[in-house]
Amino acid sequence: MQSFLTDPRFKGIKPFEKKIWLSSPTMHGDEQKWVDEAIRTNWVSTVGANINEVEKQIAAYVGVRYAVALSAGTAALHLAIKLAGETLYGQARPDRGTLQGHRVFCSDMTFCASLNPVAYEDGEAVFIDTESDTWNMDPVALEKAFELYPDVRLIVVAHLYGTPGKMEEIKRIADAHHALIVEDAAESLGAKYLLNGKWVETGTLGNYNCISFNGNKIITGSSGGMFLTDCEADANKVRKWSTQSREAAPWYQHEEIGYNYRMSNIIAGVVRGQIPYLDMHIAQKKAIYERYKAGLADLPVKMNPFDAEKSEPNFWLSCMIIDENAMAPQVRGEQDYLYKSEPGKSTPSEILDALAAFNTEGRPIWKPMHMQPIYRSNAFITAQGNGRARSNAYIAGKGVDVGADIFRRGLCLPSDNKMTPEQQDVVMDIIHRCFR
Ligand SMILES: Cc1ncc(COP(=O)(O)O)c(C=O)c1O
Repeated sequence: MQSFLTDPRFKGIKPFEKKIWLSSPTMHGDEQKWVDEAIRTNWVSTVGANINEVEKQIAAYVGVRYAVALSAGTAALHLAIKLAGETLYGQARPDRGTLQGHRVFCSDMTFCASLNPVAYEDGEAVFIDTESDTWNMDPVALEKAFELYPDVRLIVVAHLYGTPGKMEEIKRIADAHHALIVEDAAESLGAKYLLNGKWVETGTLGNYNCISFNGNKIITGSSGGMFLTDCEADANKVRKWSTQSREAAPWYQHEEIGYNYRMSNIIAGVVRGQIPYLDMHIAQKKAIYERYKAGLADLPVKMNPFDAEKSEPNFWLSCMIIDENAMAPQVRGEQDYLYKSEPGKSTPSEILDALAAFNTEGRPIWKPMHMQPIYRSNAFITAQGNGRARSNAYIAGKGVDVGADIFRRGLCLPSDNKMTPEQQDVVMDIIHRCFR
């Protein structure tokens, strides 16, 4: 880090006194009111007015009939995936997951929580490569995956960094193969998508839909998540599972496995205070994205792309990708990395180190799941078909791997909604100097 502070390329720049975060929580004051009310009225457990209210308000905002407030987005994804498994394959024994013996097609370049629940349910994730138009699941690769594995009936799809994926195509493919969709809208609450000529919210696009109120999300409860659906029976089932699956008996009677996944009324108080500011946060994040887009336009980089005709992202994180011909050498091991500086070129690793040296937080792009040690033996499907083992000692070329390429050349930029335009100018100045 010290070397950036003494590097002549960065002469005159001082580290920020207060750290510029990637995306930190923004409290507005109302959160305190609803948390205090929960404490004052003694409704601090997993029942209460805040929970009822946030379920009602989020369902109305997103445009679904039912929202079930849970302890985390991961909990929502687990129960959504379990419910999909039970719907497809029946109730599992208590010591087995509902997906045992079944493959599930999953977004590849996403946070692990999107699809770890497939493994919780004993299923086998098959990773679908990413397209370069929105950085989400590639419908062409998905179609290829159905050619290779025609029996698959479940797709888990995420919207990366708040940008909706190609859901019209993905839904068409899912319907053609009688497959269900679990939608992971954890990062994209408030993002809109033009589906068959009608604007809808992400969180309505799957058969089972999930959002997150994790501390770094567009609005937060400090933690928390929700399951969203139009189906009353599904909402009731998820609510029952989330509160230990109690049957209608005077004692604790159980016919199915349960979980302690319900949101607390305290957390719901924080969410309740945040909901009125969702649109404001989106506008702030959009302004950050647009300032980066204009301010970095003279560099050999591009912003994370979206389909402006079919989607309106929530701009949760601004990202950039370095043009191939402006990439300096960079090698990443499993836990360490090396890079070289070259005039006119840079690397995500160098930019992230430079930002950190000046007290600013960026982040690498989500490392694709097919590259993760834990999922090394799971299948990976690209637009060309099987994405594993495509190199040959005697023939040049390795096959496409869009996710690996975005991971190699891309990074998430500081996207905190409290960053001022002046601070963002300094961030962009640091990035410019990396290319000197
Ligand atoms: C794409 C994605 N899915 C799932 C999650 C999990 O949500 P949570 O942290 O609320 O469990 C997150 C964020 O944390 C996420 O970014």
